[in-house]
Amino acid sequence: MRVRKAVLPAAGFGTRFLPATKAIPKELLPLVDRPIIQYAVEEALASGIEQIIIVISTGRSAIEDHFDSNPTLERWLEERGDIEMLRHIRRISEIGPIAFVHQKEQLGLGHAVLMAKELVGDEPFAVLLSDDVMLNPGGPPVTRQLIDIHKAHRGSVVAVQRVPHAEVPRYGIVAPVREEGRLVEIGDLVEKPDVDDAPSELAVLGRYVLTPKIFDLLEQTQSGAGGEIQLTDAIKALMQEQPVFGYQFDGTRHDAGTRLGWLMANVSLALESEVAEEVRGYIRGLDLRD
Ligand code: G1P
Repeated sequence: MRVRKAVLPAAGFGTRFLPATKAIPKELLPLVDRPIIQYAVEEALASGIEQIIIVISTGRSAIEDHFDSNPTLERWLEERGDIEMLRHIRRISEIGPIAFVHQKEQLGLGHAVLMAKELVGDEPFAVLLSDDVMLNPGGPPVTRQLIDIHKAHRGSVVAVQRVPHAEVPRYGIVAPVREEGRLVEIGDLVEKPDVDDAPSELAVLGRYVLTPKIFDLLEQTQSGAGGEIQLTDAIKALMQEQPVFGYQFDGTRHDAGTRLGWLMANVSLALESEVAEEVRGYIRGLDLRD
């Protein structure tokens, strides 16, 4: 079955980026000229996804507003003759159909994904954590890469990449059984292990293609690391019933949910944008001596 739907959880507190995220969801922090979540939506669409489902927390409707039309702004831009920006603004609200589901309590990533159960139904789907910004200029988007692996191997697929050993406690870490090119056969999965207990340095990074069986398993998943219902734990249970692969994707990932990662994502994207020349000149002119 084709992967047509994508779930984008966007209901977290954004605690790693306070105070910037006190009133604004982290998914709306800008990268160059558009909010973080718009890059993930664009990646999903460029990967062949037809229906976007965004999980938001109750009372935080700014993300809905971003993807909604804004007739007053459009009229104003039209009157000023700013046709290029008008097109840009209209394109955002024409992305549809975007569905929004509410997560009433922040019980964890697994719980957020579970909120999309009814809208996804009985078909495989993608999950994109938008604060993991995946860049692969000139190549296939990371979500597309996972969909292709799902098609070829008929199982669930998680995006993995090696991270520095000291950073393993921040991630879901896989225990690889066998690696064949970019494909990883997974023996075990552990959410946020201690540095000394980590089975490898291969971290799960923000992109998944999952079979709908995951929803039954999420319903049975008890809270795990950090007292939260973890997607990783449900995937681990899924592995007992169906194949789950890791895929060492082609591309660069920035963790835009942290200050440093956000700054790096901005620099990388700016160097690909229409202000690239000016940014390059600015960086060259910086005094980088210690
Ligand atoms: C989540 C997942 C974790 C994964 C990470 C990737 O953690 O639970 O398995 O490695 O995203 O960014 P979070 O960043 O929400 O703590």
